[in-house]
Amino acid sequence: MSTGNGHTELPIPNGWFAVAWSRDLAKGEVRRARYFEQELVLFRTREGRVYVLDAYCPHLGAHLGEGGRVIGETIRCPFHAWQFGGDGVCTNIPYSKKAPPKKARVRSWPVEERNGFVFVWHHHEQAPPAWEIPQLPEFSDANWTEPRTSELTVPVHIQDMAENNCDPVHFRFVHGNLALGESSVTPGEESHYFSAWSKTNQETPLGAFDTELERETWGLGLVSVRTKGIGDAGLLMLAATSPVDRATTTSRWIFTVTQDMADLAGEDFIAGLEAGVQQDMRIWKNKIHRANPVLCEADTELAFFRKWVRQFYPNDRPVRVADLKEARG
Ligand code: FES
Ligand SMILES: [Fe+2]
Repeated sequence: MSTGNGHTELPIPNGWFAVAWSRDLAKGEVRRARYFEQELVLFRTREGRVYVLDAYCPHLGAHLGEGGRVIGETIRCPFHAWQFGGDGVCTNIPYSKKAPPKKARVRSWPVEERNGFVFVWHHHEQAPPAWEIPQLPEFSDANWTEPRTSELTVPVHIQDMAENNCDPVHFRFVHGNLALGESSVTPGEESHYFSAWSKTNQETPLGAFDTELERETWGLGLVSVRTKGIGDAGLLMLAATSPVDRATTTSRWIFTVTQDMADLAGEDFIAGLEAGVQQDMRIWKNKIHRANPVLCEADTELAFFRKWVRQFYPNDRPVRVADLKEARG
């Protein structure tokens, strides 16, 4: 939808998106959440499984996330105590002798827990998940530090936030990285994935290094960034980003570094990334989305990204990996 100032409102994309940290849901815990322009309830059963359901009870519409509680493997509505299983089906009406009506059910969303996040699969036609979320090896490797986390909500569509990753020029003008090195994008064998690589010269507490940034992207919801070239040290950031609505995005980040780096650069690395997002904020808060931007020759990654991203929206032709390889230029 286009508005007078040239802004195009993008829909909510399909894909896996984080809706909570795993640590936020202890066994028996219930939380409300709002993503994909919908009210949701999240709960972890006594056995430890996480479920995500539509929030409003089919009986009289109470919000299951406001006073609902876990009973065994079900959630109980706070209003009249109807119980719903993880599949969203009503299993029990405690004061009724008859079986619950067939229509007594709420939508149950596909859920996966990985890398410390609870992910939900969103699809505009409720199609089943089309890919697997990767588990990154660093998070279970004793050579890497205990992950640190950070979270922020930004008033911009998830695509505009994601686009920054394919916009090497902004690193120079927004983030003050003077050296603009080579970079390249490589589409994966599955269309939802691509990797990108770039070279920069980075100031670190240990001096200046020629570093390589390896970025991997799984849909619009998950990006990893590995920094290499500071001796044998490793730095990893994993960002899980989710659409709250068409103009609001929540991003959750996990950082870990190799143990040998922990005291030297771990904290600075984290602080640097957090400061970087603050620099982007003024742009994000005030920009419009141009559906047909005027690009220049340095925007090849952006052009690739715009072509790639279409596969996650309604009414678009499927994106073929062969076309993406061409778009890479
Ligand atoms: S509104 Fe949920 S049981 Fe009545
Ligand atoms: Fe940025």
